[in-house]
Amino acid sequence: MREKLLKILLQHKDGFVSGEKISLELGCSRTAVWKHIEELRKDGYEVDSAPRKGYRIIKKANGIQSHEVNIHLETERIGRSISYYDAIDSTQIIAHKLAQEGMEEGHIVIANEQTSGRGRLGRSWYSKGGTSISMSLILRPKLSPQQTPQLTLLSAVAVIRGVKKITGIDCEIKWPNDVLINGKKIVGILTEMQSDPDYVHSVIIGIGLNVNQQTTDFEPDIQRLATSLSIETGQQIERSRLIAAILGEFEWLYDEYLENGFSMIRGLWEAHAVSVGTYIYARTPKQVIYGYAQGITDEGVLLVQDEQGTIHHIYSADIEIAKQT
Ligand code: BTN
Repeated sequence: MREKLLKILLQHKDGFVSGEKISLELGCSRTAVWKHIEELRKDGYEVDSAPRKGYRIIKKANGIQSHEVNIHLETERIGRSISYYDAIDSTQIIAHKLAQEGMEEGHIVIANEQTSGRGRLGRSWYSKGGTSISMSLILRPKLSPQQTPQLTLLSAVAVIRGVKKITGIDCEIKWPNDVLINGKKIVGILTEMQSDPDYVHSVIIGIGLNVNQQTTDFEPDIQRLATSLSIETGQQIERSRLIAAILGEFEWLYDEYLENGFSMIRGLWEAHAVSVGTYIYARTPKQVIYGYAQGITDEGVLLVQDEQGTIHHIYSADIEIAKQT
Protein backbone atom coordinates (compact mmCIF):
# COMPACT_ATOMS: atom_id res chain seq x y z
CA MET A 1 0.00 0.00 0.00
CA ARG A 2 2.77 2.44 1.00
CA GLU A 3 4.70 1.56 -2.14
CA LYS A 4 1.64 2.36 -4.29
CA LEU A 5 0.98 5.61 -2.42
CA LEU A 6 4.59 6.68 -2.85
CA LYS A 7 4.42 5.89 -6.54
CA ILE A 8 1.29 8.03 -6.98
CA LEU A 9 2.86 10.96 -5.09
CA LEU A 10 6.07 10.72 -7.10
CA GLN A 11 4.14 10.59 -10.37
CA HIS A 12 2.49 13.91 -9.38
CA LYS A 13 5.48 15.53 -7.72
CA ASP A 14 5.08 18.75 -9.72
CA GLY A 15 1.62 19.42 -8.33
CA PHE A 16 -0.99 18.31 -5.83
CA VAL A 17 -2.91 15.07 -6.13
CA SER A 18 -6.30 14.95 -4.48
CA GLY A 19 -7.10 12.67 -1.56
CA GLU A 20 -10.09 11.42 -3.56
CA LYS A 21 -7.93 10.36 -6.51
CA ILE A 22 -5.49 8.58 -4.20
CA SER A 23 -8.28 6.81 -2.33
CA LEU A 24 -9.79 5.63 -5.64
CA GLU A 25 -6.45 4.35 -6.93
CA LEU A 26 -5.60 2.62 -3.66
CA GLY A 27 -9.15 1.35 -3.08
CA CYS A 28 -9.27 2.68 0.49
CA SER A 29 -11.01 5.48 2.41
CA ARG A 30 -9.68 9.03 2.53
CA THR A 31 -9.05 8.60 6.27
CA ALA A 32 -6.86 5.60 5.43
CA VAL A 33 -5.00 7.73 2.87
CA TRP A 34 -4.36 10.35 5.53
CA LYS A 35 -3.05 7.68 7.93
CA HIS A 36 -0.64 6.37 5.29
CA ILE A 37 0.55 9.92 4.57
CA GLU A 38 1.26 10.34 8.29
CA GLU A 39 3.33 7.14 8.24
CA LEU A 40 5.34 8.42 5.29
CA ARG A 41 6.01 11.64 7.20
CA LYS A 42 7.23 9.61 10.19
CA ASP A 43 9.61 7.84 7.80
CA GLY A 44 11.16 11.17 6.85
CA TYR A 45 9.17 12.12 3.75
CA GLU A 46 8.04 15.72 3.61
CA VAL A 47 4.48 15.74 2.27
CA ASP A 48 2.61 19.01 1.87
CA SER A 49 -1.20 19.00 2.24
CA ALA A 50 -3.66 21.74 1.31
CA PRO A 51 -7.46 21.92 1.64
CA ARG A 52 -9.28 21.12 -1.66
CA LYS A 53 -5.95 20.43 -3.37
CA GLY A 54 -4.73 17.26 -1.70
CA TYR A 55 -1.16 16.11 -1.17
CA ARG A 56 2.22 16.86 -2.71
CA ILE A 57 5.55 15.22 -1.96
CA ILE A 58 8.26 17.79 -1.35
CA LYS A 59 11.24 15.84 -0.14
CA LYS A 60 11.92 12.16 -0.39
CA ALA A 61 13.51 10.31 2.49
CA ASN A 62 16.80 8.77 1.47
CA GLY A 63 15.72 5.35 2.66
CA ILE A 64 16.46 1.85 1.46
CA GLN A 65 13.51 -0.10 2.82
CA SER A 66 11.94 -2.63 0.47
CA HIS A 67 9.05 -0.37 -0.63
CA GLU A 68 11.54 2.39 -1.53
CA VAL A 69 13.71 0.06 -3.61
CA ASN A 70 10.65 -1.58 -5.21
CA ILE A 71 9.45 1.72 -6.66
CA HIS A 72 12.51 1.84 -8.91
CA LEU A 73 13.10 -1.86 -9.46
CA GLU A 74 12.69 -3.16 -13.01
CA THR A 75 13.95 -6.71 -12.51
CA GLU A 76 12.02 -9.95 -12.73
CA ARG A 77 13.63 -11.90 -9.92
CA ILE A 78 16.81 -10.22 -8.60
CA GLY A 79 15.80 -8.14 -5.57
CA ARG A 80 12.12 -8.99 -5.86
CA SER A 81 12.19 -10.14 -2.27
CA ILE A 82 14.09 -8.13 0.31
CA SER A 83 14.93 -8.46 4.01
CA TYR A 84 15.62 -5.00 5.43
CA TYR A 85 17.36 -4.19 8.72
CA ASP A 86 17.89 -0.78 10.20
CA ALA A 87 21.02 -2.01 12.00
CA ILE A 88 22.56 -5.46 11.85
CA ASP A 89 25.98 -7.04 12.45
CA SER A 90 26.50 -8.11 8.81
CA THR A 91 24.15 -8.68 5.88
CA GLN A 92 26.45 -11.58 4.86
CA ILE A 93 25.66 -13.43 8.10
CA ILE A 94 21.89 -13.04 7.60
CA ALA A 95 22.11 -14.00 3.91
CA HIS A 96 24.09 -17.16 4.75
CA LYS A 97 21.47 -18.14 7.31
CA LEU A 98 18.60 -17.51 4.90
CA ALA A 99 20.37 -19.45 2.14
CA GLN A 100 20.85 -22.40 4.48
CA GLU A 101 17.15 -22.31 5.28
CA GLY A 102 16.38 -22.56 1.54
CA MET A 103 15.76 -18.93 0.56
CA GLU A 104 15.20 -18.54 -3.18
CA GLU A 105 17.66 -17.08 -5.68
CA GLY A 106 17.48 -13.31 -6.06
CA HIS A 107 16.63 -12.50 -2.43
CA ILE A 108 18.63 -9.59 -1.01
CA VAL A 109 19.42 -8.56 2.52
CA ILE A 110 19.83 -4.79 2.92
CA ALA A 111 20.99 -2.92 6.00
CA ASN A 112 20.95 0.77 6.71
CA GLU A 113 23.89 0.22 9.05
CA GLN A 114 26.25 -2.69 9.76
CA THR A 115 27.90 -2.94 13.15
CA SER A 116 30.38 -5.65 12.18
CA GLY A 117 30.60 -5.70 8.40
CA ARG A 118 32.96 -8.24 6.86
CA GLY A 119 35.59 -7.43 4.24
CA ARG A 120 37.93 -9.53 2.14
CA LEU A 121 40.91 -11.38 3.63
CA GLY A 122 39.39 -11.39 7.13
CA ARG A 123 39.20 -7.60 7.33
CA SER A 124 36.31 -5.59 8.71
CA TRP A 125 34.12 -3.26 6.64
CA TYR A 126 32.70 -0.10 8.14
CA SER A 127 29.24 1.01 6.93
CA LYS A 128 27.98 4.24 8.43
CA GLY A 129 24.20 4.33 8.91
CA GLY A 130 22.14 6.42 6.51
CA THR A 131 24.94 7.07 4.05
CA SER A 132 26.11 3.78 2.58
CA ILE A 133 24.70 0.73 0.86
CA SER A 134 25.28 -2.67 2.44
CA MET A 135 23.59 -5.54 0.71
CA SER A 136 23.99 -9.27 0.20
CA LEU A 137 22.46 -11.12 -2.72
CA ILE A 138 21.63 -14.83 -2.64
CA LEU A 139 22.27 -16.77 -5.87
CA ARG A 140 21.86 -20.44 -6.71
CA PRO A 141 23.75 -20.88 -9.99
CA LYS A 142 24.46 -24.29 -11.47
CA LEU A 143 28.24 -23.81 -11.44
CA SER A 144 31.29 -25.61 -10.13
CA PRO A 145 32.96 -23.96 -7.11
CA GLN A 146 35.93 -23.05 -9.37
CA GLN A 147 33.70 -20.89 -11.55
CA THR A 148 32.21 -18.73 -8.80
CA PRO A 149 34.96 -16.04 -8.86
CA GLN A 150 33.49 -15.13 -12.24
CA LEU A 151 30.43 -13.90 -10.34
CA THR A 152 32.62 -11.49 -8.38
CA LEU A 153 33.81 -9.97 -11.64
CA LEU A 154 30.25 -9.89 -12.97
CA SER A 155 29.15 -8.06 -9.80
CA ALA A 156 31.85 -5.43 -10.23
CA VAL A 157 30.64 -4.80 -13.79
CA ALA A 158 27.01 -4.54 -12.58
CA VAL A 159 27.98 -2.02 -9.89
CA ILE A 160 30.02 0.08 -12.33
CA ARG A 161 27.16 0.19 -14.82
CA GLY A 162 24.59 1.00 -12.10
CA VAL A 163 26.75 3.84 -10.76
CA LYS A 164 27.22 5.22 -14.29
CA LYS A 165 23.47 5.12 -14.90
CA ILE A 166 22.57 7.05 -11.75
CA THR A 167 25.52 9.46 -11.42
CA GLY A 168 27.18 9.56 -14.86
CA ILE A 169 30.52 8.72 -13.18
CA ASP A 170 32.98 6.27 -14.78
CA CYS A 171 34.60 3.97 -12.22
CA GLU A 172 37.57 1.66 -12.56
CA ILE A 173 38.08 -1.88 -11.33
CA LYS A 174 41.15 -3.07 -9.46
CA TRP A 175 41.43 -6.85 -9.50
CA PRO A 176 39.61 -8.71 -8.25
CA ASN A 177 36.75 -6.62 -6.99
CA ASP A 178 37.61 -3.13 -5.80
CA VAL A 179 35.73 -0.41 -7.60
CA LEU A 180 37.60 2.89 -7.61
CA ILE A 181 37.13 6.51 -8.62
CA ASN A 182 40.38 8.38 -9.30
CA GLY A 183 42.26 5.62 -7.50
CA LYS A 184 40.13 5.78 -4.33
CA LYS A 185 37.90 2.91 -3.24
CA ILE A 186 34.17 3.38 -3.52
CA VAL A 187 32.88 -0.21 -3.48
CA GLY A 188 33.98 -3.48 -1.93
CA ILE A 189 32.60 -6.84 -3.03
CA LEU A 190 32.81 -10.02 -0.99
CA THR A 191 31.80 -13.30 -2.61
CA GLU A 192 31.23 -16.29 -0.35
CA MET A 193 29.63 -19.64 -1.06
CA GLN A 194 28.09 -22.67 0.53
CA SER A 195 29.27 -25.69 -1.41
CA ASP A 196 30.37 -29.32 -1.54
CA PRO A 197 33.64 -30.05 -3.38
CA ASP A 198 31.86 -30.23 -6.74
CA TYR A 199 28.47 -28.62 -6.11
CA VAL A 200 27.54 -25.05 -5.24
CA HIS A 201 24.51 -24.73 -2.96
CA SER A 202 24.49 -20.96 -2.90
CA VAL A 203 26.66 -17.94 -3.58
CA ILE A 204 26.35 -14.84 -1.42
CA ILE A 205 27.49 -11.62 -3.08
CA GLY A 206 28.08 -8.88 -0.53
CA ILE A 207 28.30 -5.34 -1.87
CA GLY A 208 29.35 -2.36 0.23
CA LEU A 209 29.08 1.03 -1.45
CA ASN A 210 30.13 4.46 -0.20
CA VAL A 211 27.29 6.73 -1.27
CA ASN A 212 26.63 9.86 0.79
CA GLN A 213 29.57 9.93 3.20
CA GLN A 214 31.64 13.09 3.52
CA THR A 215 35.42 12.87 3.99
CA THR A 216 35.22 13.19 7.78
CA ASP A 217 32.81 10.25 7.93
CA PHE A 218 35.75 7.96 7.10
CA GLU A 219 38.31 7.00 9.75
CA PRO A 220 41.47 9.20 9.38
CA ASP A 221 43.60 6.31 8.06
CA ILE A 222 40.95 5.48 5.42
CA GLN A 223 40.41 9.07 4.20
CA ARG A 224 43.24 9.00 1.63
CA LEU A 225 42.14 5.57 0.33
CA ALA A 226 38.35 5.88 0.14
CA THR A 227 35.80 8.19 -1.39
CA SER A 228 32.03 8.33 -1.85
CA LEU A 229 29.72 9.16 -4.73
CA SER A 230 28.60 12.28 -2.88
CA ILE A 231 32.19 13.51 -2.46
CA GLU A 232 32.83 12.91 -6.16
CA THR A 233 29.62 14.49 -7.49
CA GLY A 234 28.91 17.12 -4.83
CA GLN A 235 25.37 15.78 -4.68
CA GLN A 236 23.27 13.58 -2.42
CA ILE A 237 22.53 10.30 -4.20
CA GLU A 238 19.22 8.50 -3.70
CA ARG A 239 20.34 5.13 -2.40
CA SER A 240 17.17 3.20 -3.32
CA ARG A 241 17.47 4.24 -6.98
CA LEU A 242 21.10 3.21 -7.03
CA ILE A 243 20.31 -0.20 -5.51
CA ALA A 244 17.58 -0.75 -8.10
CA ALA A 245 19.91 0.28 -10.95
CA ILE A 246 22.67 -2.09 -9.78
CA LEU A 247 20.21 -4.98 -9.42
CA GLY A 248 18.81 -4.21 -12.90
CA GLU A 249 22.29 -4.38 -14.42
CA PHE A 250 23.07 -7.48 -12.40
CA GLU A 251 20.01 -9.36 -13.67
CA TRP A 252 20.71 -9.00 -17.38
CA LEU A 253 24.43 -9.65 -16.98
CA TYR A 254 23.68 -12.76 -14.91
CA ASP A 255 21.15 -14.04 -17.45
CA GLU A 256 23.66 -13.46 -20.25
CA TYR A 257 26.33 -15.28 -18.20
CA LEU A 258 24.12 -18.28 -17.42
CA GLU A 259 23.09 -18.57 -21.06
CA ASN A 260 26.30 -17.80 -22.97
CA GLY A 261 29.15 -18.10 -20.48
CA PHE A 262 31.82 -15.75 -19.21
CA SER A 263 33.20 -14.26 -22.42
CA MET A 264 31.11 -11.09 -22.67
CA ILE A 265 31.41 -10.37 -18.94
CA ARG A 266 35.18 -10.83 -19.19
CA GLY A 267 35.32 -8.25 -22.02
CA LEU A 268 33.26 -5.74 -20.02
CA TRP A 269 35.37 -6.33 -16.92
CA GLU A 270 38.64 -5.89 -18.80
CA ALA A 271 37.41 -2.66 -20.38
CA HIS A 272 37.22 -1.12 -16.88
CA ALA A 273 40.23 -2.83 -15.28
CA VAL A 274 43.10 -0.52 -14.30
CA SER A 275 45.18 -3.37 -12.89
CA VAL A 276 45.56 -5.19 -16.22
CA GLY A 277 48.11 -4.28 -18.92
CA THR A 278 50.32 -2.53 -16.37
CA TYR A 279 53.07 -3.27 -13.83
CA ILE A 280 51.79 -4.13 -10.38
CA TYR A 281 52.77 -5.40 -6.96
CA ALA A 282 50.61 -8.35 -5.92
CA ARG A 283 50.73 -8.88 -2.16
CA THR A 284 49.65 -12.47 -1.57
CA PRO A 285 49.49 -14.02 1.92
CA LYS A 286 52.92 -15.62 1.17
CA GLN A 287 54.94 -13.13 -0.90
CA VAL A 288 54.98 -9.91 -2.90
CA ILE A 289 55.17 -10.43 -6.65
CA TYR A 290 56.20 -7.58 -8.94
CA GLY A 291 55.45 -7.94 -12.61
CA TYR A 292 53.31 -7.21 -15.62
CA ALA A 293 49.60 -8.04 -15.20
CA GLN A 294 48.73 -9.80 -18.44
CA GLY A 295 45.03 -10.38 -17.88
CA ILE A 296 42.66 -12.83 -16.24
CA THR A 297 41.88 -16.46 -16.95
CA ASP A 298 38.36 -17.74 -17.46
CA GLU A 299 38.26 -18.50 -13.75
CA GLY A 300 39.08 -14.89 -12.93
CA VAL A 301 42.66 -15.71 -11.88
CA LEU A 302 45.13 -12.84 -12.46
CA LEU A 303 48.22 -13.68 -14.56
CA VAL A 304 51.37 -11.76 -13.65
CA GLN A 305 54.67 -12.15 -15.51
CA ASP A 306 57.69 -11.31 -13.33
CA GLU A 307 61.02 -9.92 -14.56
CA GLN A 308 62.44 -13.43 -15.01
CA GLY A 309 59.57 -14.25 -17.37
CA THR A 310 57.77 -16.58 -14.93
CA ILE A 311 53.99 -16.35 -15.07
CA HIS A 312 52.31 -16.39 -11.65
CA HIS A 313 48.67 -17.34 -11.16
CA ILE A 314 47.30 -14.98 -8.50
CA TYR A 315 44.21 -16.28 -6.70
CA SER A 316 44.05 -13.84 -3.82
CA ALA A 317 46.08 -10.69 -3.20
CA ASP A 318 46.09 -6.98 -2.64
CA ILE A 319 47.14 -5.18 -5.79
CA GLU A 320 49.14 -1.98 -5.95
CA ILE A 321 49.72 -0.41 -9.32
CA ALA A 322 53.44 0.33 -9.67
CA LYS A 323 54.38 3.92 -10.42
CA GLN A 324 55.68 4.42 -13.97
CA THR A 325 59.36 5.42 -13.97
C1 BTN B 1 36.18 -5.72 0.64
O1 BTN B 1 36.92 -6.02 1.58
O2 BTN B 1 36.56 -4.95 -0.24
C2 BTN B 1 34.80 -6.30 0.54
C3 BTN B 1 33.84 -5.55 1.40
C4 BTN B 1 32.42 -6.10 1.32
C5 BTN B 1 31.46 -5.37 2.25
C6 BTN B 1 30.04 -5.81 2.06
S1 BTN B 1 28.90 -4.71 2.82
C7 BTN B 1 27.60 -5.83 2.54
C8 BTN B 1 28.17 -7.20 2.86
N1 BTN B 1 28.07 -7.48 4.27
C9 BTN B 1 29.29 -7.59 4.84
O3 BTN B 1 29.48 -7.83 6.05
N2 BTN B 1 30.24 -7.42 3.92
C10 BTN B 1 29.69 -7.16 2.60
